[in-house]
Amino acid sequence: MPRFFNALLLFFACVATRQLPTSFVLVGDSTTANGTTPNSGGWGNGFCGSTITGNIASLAAGTPCINTAHNGATTGTFVANGFWDISLAAIRGEVAKARRTLVTIQFGHNDQKVAPPESMAVNLTSMVQQIRSIGGEPVLVTSLARRTFNANGAVTDTLGPWAAATILVAQQERTHVLDLHKSSIAYVEAIGPDSAHILNRLPDDNTHLNVNGTTVFGRMVADLMSASFFGQLPIIPNPGLTFNITHGIPSF
Ligand SMILES: *[C@@H]1O[C@H](CO)[C@@H](O)[C@H](O)[C@H]1NC(C)=O
Ligand SMILES: *[C@@H]1O[C@H](CO)[C@@H](O)[C@H](O)[C@H]1NC(C)=O
Ligand SMILES: *[C@@H]1O[C@H](CO)[C@@H](O)[C@H](O)[C@H]1NC(C)=O
Ligand SMILES: *[C@@H]1O[C@H](CO)[C@@H](O)[C@H](O)[C@H]1NC(C)=O
Repeated sequence: MPRFFNALLLFFACVATRQLPTSFVLVGDSTTANGTTPNSGGWGNGFCGSTITGNIASLAAGTPCINTAHNGATTGTFVANGFWDISLAAIRGEVAKARRTLVTIQFGHNDQKVAPPESMAVNLTSMVQQIRSIGGEPVLVTSLARRTFNANGAVTDTLGPWAAATILVAQQERTHVLDLHKSSIAYVEAIGPDSAHILNRLPDDNTHLNVNGTTVFGRMVADLMSASFFGQLPIIPNPGLTFNITHGIPSF
């Protein structure tokens, strides 16, 4: 009998930690996107792993990671300009291959310029529901913070209300949420303005990332994802970089 019980426990432990074949689709603006030139863009390349980041991988080899994020997009223009249809097609394609398909959604940088947070929240809610209706699994992500500082070394980013709106939608819709806004502020305040700015695409572009920036923030997203889905995802650890991020040490 005890032996049977042990076997049963082992069975459940295996089921609980079993990694299903998994794919990722990324939805968002330029702070997620590939970038249009080699040294630009958002955290997507660092998360998906690409030749751009010297193949520093965040995901197990062969894990599809389709970055459909688009420069300049709001939740409204992403849909209106047809990028959302591209995301939906990518999600349908992965789901059709019987893969668990996680879809990150991160907006705010451009929505902030056109409408109050409540408008973005309505649009995020619709995206979450549409993703679920085709078998994908939405993961909301709060906005990557801008690396702007005041004289006291505190980040002066203005995306807080948009991050809060994203978290509220996650609670209402019961999705996972990665608080990248909070983690990115904590890290860049810890390393300070000079070290934060060498992650910029250009010295005075505090929004977009260079290759080292995408490596750092891609890893930050991977670690937040890994913690949120403990043991379930094909995310490869990078203990050195994670140590630096969690201890506020510059890596570049
Ligand atoms: C981003 O790059 C990946 C390959 O690295 C590609 O599959 C995807 O289509 C690109 N996305 C956009 C929007 O260019
Ligand atoms: C949300 O989507 C609507 C269209 O459905 C659009 O009018 C509005 O501007 C969008 N809000 C934001 C913040 O993009
Ligand atoms: C961590 O930071 C140290 C010191 O800045 C650096 O030498 C090392 O390369 C970093 N590790 C990784 C994996 O980036
Ligand atoms: C990235 O970091 C490496 C190592 O510190 C450095 O040699 C390289 O110039 C950096 N790249 C950019 C674009 O700043």
